[in-house]
Amino acid sequence: MHVAPPCPRRYMRPMLDTNTNRPELPPEIARRRTFAIISHPDAGKTTLTEKFLLYGGAIQMAGQVRAKGEARRTRSDFMKMEQDRGISVSASAMSFDFGKYRFNLVDTPGHSDFSEDTYRTLTAVDAAVMVIDGAKGVESQTQKLFEVCRLRDLPILTFCNKMDRESRDTFDIIDEIQENLAIDVSPASWPIGMGRDFMGTYDLLNDRLELMDRADRNVVAETIEINGLDDPKLAEHVPEHLLEKFLEEVEMAKELLPTIDPQSVLEGHMTPIWFGSAINSFGVQELMQGIANYGPEPQPQQASPRTIAPEEKKVAGFVFKVQANMDPKHRDRVAFMRLASGHFKRGMKLTHVRSKKPMAVSNPVLFLASDRELAEEAWAGDIIGIPNHGQLRIGDTLTEGEMIRATGIPSFAPELLQVVRAGDPMKAKHLEKALMQFAEEGAAKVFKPNIGSGFIVGVVGALQFEVLASRIELEYGLPVRFEQSQFTSARWILGDKDEVEKLVNSNKQHIAHDNDGDPVFLTRLQWDIDRVERDYPDLTLSATKEMMV
Ligand code: G4P
Repeated sequence: MHVAPPCPRRYMRPMLDTNTNRPELPPEIARRRTFAIISHPDAGKTTLTEKFLLYGGAIQMAGQVRAKGEARRTRSDFMKMEQDRGISVSASAMSFDFGKYRFNLVDTPGHSDFSEDTYRTLTAVDAAVMVIDGAKGVESQTQKLFEVCRLRDLPILTFCNKMDRESRDTFDIIDEIQENLAIDVSPASWPIGMGRDFMGTYDLLNDRLELMDRADRNVVAETIEINGLDDPKLAEHVPEHLLEKFLEEVEMAKELLPTIDPQSVLEGHMTPIWFGSAINSFGVQELMQGIANYGPEPQPQQASPRTIAPEEKKVAGFVFKVQANMDPKHRDRVAFMRLASGHFKRGMKLTHVRSKKPMAVSNPVLFLASDRELAEEAWAGDIIGIPNHGQLRIGDTLTEGEMIRATGIPSFAPELLQVVRAGDPMKAKHLEKALMQFAEEGAAKVFKPNIGSGFIVGVVGALQFEVLASRIELEYGLPVRFEQSQFTSARWILGDKDEVEKLVNSNKQHIAHDNDGDPVFLTRLQWDIDRVERDYPDLTLSATKEMMV
């Protein structure tokens, strides 16, 4: 077994403020925790979210966030979920209170094909909760999402779920996380028994037993304070056949695994792990307390020409997600903005930095589980929804006047290109409108070739074509079909305007424009790209385009 080097410190109780190296934040900001859950499908993200909301008082009964049906993640159901904007919208960003803390949980769309959206979501959070299935360990999608978190040095808290089922050896699970994800793991709790024998955990941070009520899924576990592992109370509660192994394991864990180091967690080098069973509501509150304690509080936002600090008095925020047609009766859209600084009040006039125009934000919304509410105010760390008619795009920054732009919101290179055609050729204009909307949402890249008619759509995963076709039909009443395109690669042409024009004019059959009107070079041959780069050394053919103009 591979384990991290022994650490001389003993387990300690969590400090209430782990952000001691940063200037003190106003209490309203300091109490905010904005995070996402990352996991492989089926590990228990939905169940855990539901329990968070339950303990956060945002829903009365478990079961409300869950889409119905046995095959929730089959293609058709996934699309149904996407089409049912109610569900996906209420799940996009949810706010609820836990003790003195305000949690903002930002949903990461679960499907692997929707990775682009997922990645962008992670730019709006300060931490991630990684849920793994105790029987399966680190799975492919978890690993992929973890790598994205690592790019941003996001703190990660781990929840090892489904301990009520036969699961892997605890050391093996920890070892796998350490090896596959190259991160130190510090146990915050330790399971007692597993599968049928799983009876609860030992809370290493607070020296107490948490015992699960197997009969009632929504009953809070029984807590028994103990005084170290020699406490005779242990034998009163843990059956003999489990006790010996448990004591041996915890002794070994204390010796071999590092104790929790809040600073290291904050820097993304260490993840505390809790063991539990989301479906039995077990271990969830301890995890929530962990989020509160190790959070962290809202972090500074990378921006140009300077970083934005959350404690700044003036409001600044950036759009990381746009969702259209939330209300089928209106063609409005909601831009999800993460507040990077300040204290926002409803009705504030902010500057839309890209257009340099003022924008009154009079109907911002907050999402409380299934309800949306008008947001009278919001603080750095919060996510608010801003209804608009298309002015707000992904990557946009709103400020109180300063020309500053949030950076680091990624745009991915489309890997698959297809031509889209309307079933009814007379409806080309409608199709254009629908495509522009999806391009603005960041759901696809849309290119209009200079020669010929029709549009080319670029996506990251093949399933996106099906989802788009289904949404265009549902939301615009327009059946469409996707066909193979003669092109396989798209490159944005960046550089001096005259040079760009020269290239555009002498390669007309390869040129298209994206939804912002920016020129794109389309081809199926790497040779073509090499040729252009050789002939136009001052131009760059880029696989991605920064979201901001
Ligand atoms: P996901 O969002 O990560 O995809 O996972 P989700 O919460 O939907 O959970 C996937 C399946 O795992 C669900 O079963 C759920 O009930 C089950 N599950 C979640 N947490 C636990 C746990 O702690 N223990 C056990 N034993 N199972 C758990 P399903 O059969 O797919 O759906 P359902 O019929 O239960 O709704």
